[in-house]
Amino acid sequence: MNINVLSKAGETSFTCEEGETLLFAGLRQGLTLPYECATGTCGTCRARLAGGEVEIPWPDAPAFAKIKREKGDILMCQCRPRGDCDLKIPANVTKSVTDDALPAHRKGIVKAPRRLTHDVMHFEIQLSSPMSFKAGQFVVIEAKDVPGRRAYSMVNYQTGTQTISLVVKRKPGGGFSDWLFEGNIEGEALEVFGPLGQATFQAEEDKDMICIAGGSGIAGMMSILECATSSNYFDNHKGHVFFGVRSPADAFYVEELSRYVAAAKGGLEVTLAFSHQPPASSSDDAFPGLTLAAGMVHEVAAKTMAGRYGDMIGYVAGPTPMVDGAIRVLITEAALARDCIRYDKFA
Ligand SMILES: Cc1cc2nc3c(=O)[nH]c(=O)nc-3n(C[C@H](O)[C@H](O)[C@H](O)COP(=O)(O)OP(=O)(O)OC[C@H]3O[C@@H](n4cnc5c(N)ncnc54)[C@H](O)[C@@H]3O)c2cc1C
Ligand code: FES
Repeated sequence: MNINVLSKAGETSFTCEEGETLLFAGLRQGLTLPYECATGTCGTCRARLAGGEVEIPWPDAPAFAKIKREKGDILMCQCRPRGDCDLKIPANVTKSVTDDALPAHRKGIVKAPRRLTHDVMHFEIQLSSPMSFKAGQFVVIEAKDVPGRRAYSMVNYQTGTQTISLVVKRKPGGGFSDWLFEGNIEGEALEVFGPLGQATFQAEEDKDMICIAGGSGIAGMMSILECATSSNYFDNHKGHVFFGVRSPADAFYVEELSRYVAAAKGGLEVTLAFSHQPPASSSDDAFPGLTLAAGMVHEVAAKTMAGRYGDMIGYVAGPTPMVDGAIRVLITEAALARDCIRYDKFA
């Protein structure tokens, strides 16, 4: 099927396979289509259908409430064309020829699931072909027994890898959460699309970093820390990581974070913020090299960083209210420009 696009940058086109969403088809062919969540919650992938027909497998996607359906607006991440279509997109859509990590469809097999806490699961996916991605990116996955797709950020960082690591915080009653936590998922087959996302780290940008993560929002930060450590970024830059969980028992990746702090030789500070159970002191042998604090993670970050901001990039991920709070801190207190704040809302 042929999809014609009229955007602020002029006309372009791409093709779409049977059963494929407009967003995934355009992105894998290098079009700079607008998107954030890729899973029907944010509304960023809005387009106007000027010709043709689409099928909408999940008409209840929350982001449909944010667009003008009566005027023909659609969500490209939720629509599959029924034939050739004409789209009007209120953004600059061009064809990227330089991106060496275009997203693609792959098959995956779940490997080595392990619980990190009572409601956090780490697992790996063995991919049908190698994938390169930037630190901070995510994939969208689909399991045969769970309707719809879910986005998860890579925890590891390695170019051309056939194994990606993910971490999931259980959402009570959530479709993918229940599938993951209630059965034996080792060896289960998945559909994987990616890499996706613009909340990425590149050491060449030559700025310090502040990372603010709530719960499983630490996933992409782990990938960023791995990339930064392996490129000796902390030899010349400072990193400040704030990781919010409810209590000490909810913390995970402690060993890995301690290892990154030790390897950075003073270049990296990691603070664990406990929202529901204040720590007895700011350090504890159970959390070597890490600082402990009480409070909501974005508030702890604001307090700790007062007067210490500089030329930096801010990375934020986690539940939407926490992300919004952290972005406010980075704008009003750190005075970071919008293009220096990169975030993923885990809505
Ligand atoms: C960019 C991004 C990165 C993320 N990274 C992580 C991460 O690393 N770790 C983590 O724990 N969470 C992450 N999330 C959140 C994650 O995608 C899920 O929302 C969360 O795990 C809850 O999923 P669930 O299936 O348990 O809950 P549910 O409430 O069942 O589903 C949550 C989401 O799944 C999709 N969905 C649900 N039902 C359907 C349907 N019928 N058809 C189509 N789609 C449907 C929707 O997007 C919905 O909001 C991320 C989210 C985004 C946007
Ligand atoms: S990208 Fe489609 S709704 Fe978020």
